[in-house]
Amino acid sequence: MEVHNVDLTISAVRPEQYPKTAYPEVALVGRSNVGKSSLTNVLINRQNFAHTSSQPGKTQTLNFYAVENQLYFVDVPGYGYAKVSKKERERFGQMIENYLTQREQLCGVIMLVDARHAPTADDVTMYQWLAYYNLPTLVVGTKSDKVKSNAWNRQESQIRKKLGMTPDDPLILFSAKTKRGKEQVWQWIERQMGMN
Ligand code: GTP
Ligand code: MG
Repeated sequence: MEVHNVDLTISAVRPEQYPKTAYPEVALVGRSNVGKSSLTNVLINRQNFAHTSSQPGKTQTLNFYAVENQLYFVDVPGYGYAKVSKKERERFGQMIENYLTQREQLCGVIMLVDARHAPTADDVTMYQWLAYYNLPTLVVGTKSDKVKSNAWNRQESQIRKKLGMTPDDPLILFSAKTKRGKEQVWQWIERQMGMN
């Protein structure tokens, strides 16, 4: 999709704050600091529209970005950030779970993992949870610019194995720095939207 127009429509915590539109929505989930906001910015061709930070825990609400009045990206707070209190974590967990299990407009979930390392226990839990709820999921291995190209295949296999993915489950290596994988991610999104 050629993106020219994008709005931060709403930052929501509770379901009654979600946008009232029927546009399809794609959620971005993954550990804190993995690069969700950075992926969003690359997809919409902006530098820092979705706020990025080297400090984990930057995104604390569900942020709905309206793209071309056709689609929302929903930037979801990261999991696995040790410094937030247990209470805070539970509140986050509930907010994310409500959204992912109850939102009819949700047509796909992009789950980010760090391409440099094996997925964490939290990543495995998240992936299994998404599968349990039958949510169409694309795994994106990000920060691939930090992995030597001769190790890409090995890292891909490691992610697949650890998450228990089948060969048909989609996985794309991505980099917000080089924009590697951007077109493939868009193709997957457009397929979820029923555009191709
Ligand atoms: P939270 O909102 O805290 O959950 O984090 P997030 O997942 O939105 O991560 P964010 O996009 O803010 O990125 C975290 C840090 O990783 C920033 O310093 C980014 O510049 C860096 N980063 C993200 N993606 C990439 C990438 O593909 N390559 C490299 N080299 N750095 C990246
Ligand atoms: Mg973020």
